[in-house]
Amino acid sequence: MTPIAVAYITAAQGGGDSERWTRMLGEALGRPVDMRVWPNIGRAEDVTVALAWKAPGGALARFPNLRLIVSLGMGVDHLLLDAKLPADIPIVRIMDEGLIGQMSEYAIYYALRHHRAIPAYEASQRARQWKVEDFVDTADRRIGIMGLGAIGTDVARKFLGLGFPTSGWSRTPRNLVGIACHHGAAGLDAFLAGTDILVDVLPLTPETTGMIDGRLLGKLPKGAYFINMARGGHVVDADLLAALDSGHLSGATLDVFNEEPLPGSHPYWTHPKVLVTPHIAGETNPRTAAASVADNIRRLEAGQPLIHTIDRAAGY
Ligand code: GLV
Repeated sequence: MTPIAVAYITAAQGGGDSERWTRMLGEALGRPVDMRVWPNIGRAEDVTVALAWKAPGGALARFPNLRLIVSLGMGVDHLLLDAKLPADIPIVRIMDEGLIGQMSEYAIYYALRHHRAIPAYEASQRARQWKVEDFVDTADRRIGIMGLGAIGTDVARKFLGLGFPTSGWSRTPRNLVGIACHHGAAGLDAFLAGTDILVDVLPLTPETTGMIDGRLLGKLPKGAYFINMARGGHVVDADLLAALDSGHLSGATLDVFNEEPLPGSHPYWTHPKVLVTPHIAGETNPRTAAASVADNIRRLEAGQPLIHTIDRAAGY
């Protein structure tokens, strides 16, 4: 069977996972994949499909016969930043149940850690102190999810399943059973006022860049907790630090940053109310993601509509 020539393009730390992608995509397609791993792309004319994660600027413009760009992450901000991104080629993203499940695990783990006062118990153990912290009923801890796409929906449903009152905010209206859904600028204040743990899973777009600033954080109730597993670019760092230092926020778990890797001198590293993880909340897993890529390649070849497509104008 003729192999399909696919470019694998990433400038991310660690170089990605091209061997597993070659194997898993080949299995999902039922046909060999001739993977061209950037920058060793061979004859650029052969390539019709590109898998990209943080591709170097201009890289995708190198393939004259490219017909499909696949984002290897759920977010596509990394692609849309490329000034030379070919204009008329469809962009799809992976839809990875594995990654979505990991994101939910991450949010739930850090939310429960805060909810059950685990940091206080850890400190008590170190001090050999038998000390019971105040009890907060699950019914009194309101979870608010910003972003109700595939990830936000899964996260919200799982929090709801644990018994937390759960609400969501999104740009456009959504309707999810059991979840109080707010939308648009008009819905933001009410959403924030009813959120004790804010979980950010929004895409990074011009509209959401710098959105989490002092004004927005000020609308959360005093003592609220913030979990960012979306994009650091949403946050005005100085405002978040000020909200933590004033005691308005009780703490934050941050997986994503304005600059990654987070510079060694950044105050987040040592802030007593901040937990830092290195952008690991959801790792794309070729085992679970390859099926959606293979599905789109088959659709492309059969002239059928693609799925999980990106709206370049909306930015996600
Ligand atoms: C990770 O950040 C992703 O967008 O998948």
